[in-house]
Amino acid sequence: MAIRTAIAVANPNIAFIKYWGNRDHALRIPCNGSISLTLGGLETQTTVTFDENLTSDHVFIDDRSASASTSARVSQHLDRIRLIAGFKYCAKVESRSNFPVGAGIASSASAFAALTVAGTSAAGLSLQPIELSRIARLGSGSACRSIFGGFVEWHANETDEDSYAEVLAPSNHWDLQDLIVIVNQEHKGVGSTEGHALADTSPLQNARVADAPRRLKECRRAILDRDFPSLASITELDSNLMHAVMLTSTPSLMYWYPETLQIMNEVTRWRAEGYEVCYTIDAGPNVHCICTRKYADRIEKRLRRLPGVIQLLRASPGNQARVL
Ligand code: DP6
Repeated sequence: MAIRTAIAVANPNIAFIKYWGNRDHALRIPCNGSISLTLGGLETQTTVTFDENLTSDHVFIDDRSASASTSARVSQHLDRIRLIAGFKYCAKVESRSNFPVGAGIASSASAFAALTVAGTSAAGLSLQPIELSRIARLGSGSACRSIFGGFVEWHANETDEDSYAEVLAPSNHWDLQDLIVIVNQEHKGVGSTEGHALADTSPLQNARVADAPRRLKECRRAILDRDFPSLASITELDSNLMHAVMLTSTPSLMYWYPETLQIMNEVTRWRAEGYEVCYTIDAGPNVHCICTRKYADRIEKRLRRLPGVIQLLRASPGNQARVL
């Protein structure tokens, strides 16, 4: 092996039932299972080139050298792949996303899914999707779900072997749309990795985790039956529970902006009028408005009229991470 290269592409995902808090931080074994939709239209493309002439890994994100901490996290992930492949060659990694970096969309999910697929392929490994999902999980928890397309469930379980994602329903099962409202482009204060470590300091986390099997069951059923009202209420409840834990952690994490709250209120009002839409918010101020195709254009128009909306991105059910 002198030089071996591969290119892969992966989509981010939005969780209806969220991952927040780990049972094992180093292995990213989560406290609870999660369910997400892979977001087509938004993607990260990553090229990994193992080159025996390199003496260290070189990481470029959107054509710029990555920060020291990001480079270290990527190198650590490449180490996992090198260990399985049984070689020590360094690599050049070039990653590019077609959605704004500061948009507050968890780019680590698509980034580590694409890195896992490109890296293992360049290393000459041919792995099953479940195996790829386990490896991606070690890089970033939510990335294990982005290995798959459509509606995806991450089984929490308790060991490195058993904690991986699987398809719950394919992307053509239900044409939901995600209207992502950007109200702030700045990088978030406390990232997800640090946030997960604080979850246990909240007196509410135990209750949130204890109730997770019920929410997962309800969410699974709502997706399989294409029951929007049920999906909407369980999704909003789950997002609010996660933010309640964030708010009551020590130190307290407050991700919402005034605009975030306003959109949450409008979305709830529109649903009372009969529109099929609900909100969910990750570790940032931007709001994901999940809706059925039938209402998407009308909701998009209403969202664009709200003050403080910097940008609106639209995603549809996406496909699995793949080698190009
Ligand atoms: C709020 O997967 O970004 O988006 O494993 O530390 O990379 P790391 O965390 P990450 O956490 C995602 C948190 C979330 C909820 C979710 O996507 O389930």
